[in-house]
Amino acid sequence: MSTGKDTRAAGRAGAEYQALLARDSRPVPQVLASQSPEDLGTEPLSAARYTSQAFFDLECERMWPRVWQVACREEDIPEPGDFHVYDVVGRSLLVVRLADGGIRAYHNSCLHRGRRLATADGHAQNFRCGFHGWTWNLDGSIRSVPCRWDFPQLSDDDLRLPQAQVGTWGGFVFVNMDPGAAPLEQYLGVLPLHFERWRLEDCYKAVHVAKVIRCNWKVAMEAFMESYHVIATHPQILPVFADASAQYDVYGEHVNRNLAAFGAPSPHLGEDAVAPGEVVEGMLAMMGRRRPAGGQPEGEAGARAYLGDLNRASFAKAFGGDYEDVSDAETIDALVYNVFPNFAPWAGFAPNIVYRWRPNGRDVGSCLMEVMILKRCPTGQPRPRPVRMRLLSEAEPWSAATELPVLGPVIDQDMGNMPHVQDGLDASATGRVHLSRYQEVRIRHFHRTLDHYLG
Ligand code: FES
Ligand SMILES: [Fe+2]
Repeated sequence: MSTGKDTRAAGRAGAEYQALLARDSRPVPQVLASQSPEDLGTEPLSAARYTSQAFFDLECERMWPRVWQVACREEDIPEPGDFHVYDVVGRSLLVVRLADGGIRAYHNSCLHRGRRLATADGHAQNFRCGFHGWTWNLDGSIRSVPCRWDFPQLSDDDLRLPQAQVGTWGGFVFVNMDPGAAPLEQYLGVLPLHFERWRLEDCYKAVHVAKVIRCNWKVAMEAFMESYHVIATHPQILPVFADASAQYDVYGEHVNRNLAAFGAPSPHLGEDAVAPGEVVEGMLAMMGRRRPAGGQPEGEAGARAYLGDLNRASFAKAFGGDYEDVSDAETIDALVYNVFPNFAPWAGFAPNIVYRWRPNGRDVGSCLMEVMILKRCPTGQPRPRPVRMRLLSEAEPWSAATELPVLGPVIDQDMGNMPHVQDGLDASATGRVHLSRYQEVRIRHFHRTLDHYLG
């Protein structure tokens, strides 16, 4: 039964985004000029998935230790002995660069009486436990034990640091604590093929900002999986963002995506409500840029082509290389992929946004959200050093991170919902959450996969 007068059929939504691509000023790569919809039905979700300690504990026990998850960027640990401490739901891994350039992940727990071997990122020749001094080589073999004679029960083999699996893709280091897990390549499904052209491995981490948010980690993540909330949460971008024309695709178990057009007005505003010139002005204002002299965009495709031209020229200037064959869509649109459970890299050639969400320790009601921006390594120059993560305090809004110029204030609008969603779920009379059939299919897809792990 329908209660609205919106007669746009669900099937049309992806078609609208595809129609925009068809009018792009450049040929659009096939991975974008295609759809992979999946109808996952209309069943409600239980609110307890976000609020119950028992459900959270099940995720900690059955999901987190069995999935491939991003630990850091390869460039975060460039030299032998560089290491990163990756913590998730009370587990901790030491992700280490070895002398031969390989990467290993050791469980960050001393085999003697359990002290964490490292508490923060750093560089080491070997890992020496601060409690009694047991020491390991970078390759995980035991180096020395004070009064070794007093541990006749332990061989060198017993004293090898237990490892998690390690894989790399797109310049990211992934880890998986399940020794029996299928390889990363298999887990990622279509992702490597889709990103072949966008080569995130040729980028460096230019921005990395994080903040603890008072809501379940899935509440935060799912707020970034659909454009449906834009009408109420970010109404100021409606003149430049075709929210309700967005496309949603599902690929196998672990990957889904949302393709949404910037440089085209929202269907909510009605046809011809925003002139192409106003779209361009709105986009330039949002990006904090001035319109160059000359040239007036004509029609919707004209506005996108105009913005595409500006971006192609500015990317070439900033990073070197040739962007002439890059489509308008790849320079302006929100092309957001999610990899189960918690990693979301943007596709295309605009500086690529990357999101990651993790529970805050073992707290069902708070999480850590991270926003990174990857920029292309300038051609012919040494790879710029990546930034370190900046953790915002509870009092600091995302807009305090001036390195997120456009994004910060928009994310603050999202944050305006989060604690209230968590509180509202706790207060729910029905114990149910209803999802739209098309525009929120990625959330449904996520929960289906989560159930497979929990089952
Ligand atoms: S707990 Fe690490 S050496 Fe004793
Ligand atoms: Fe948002």
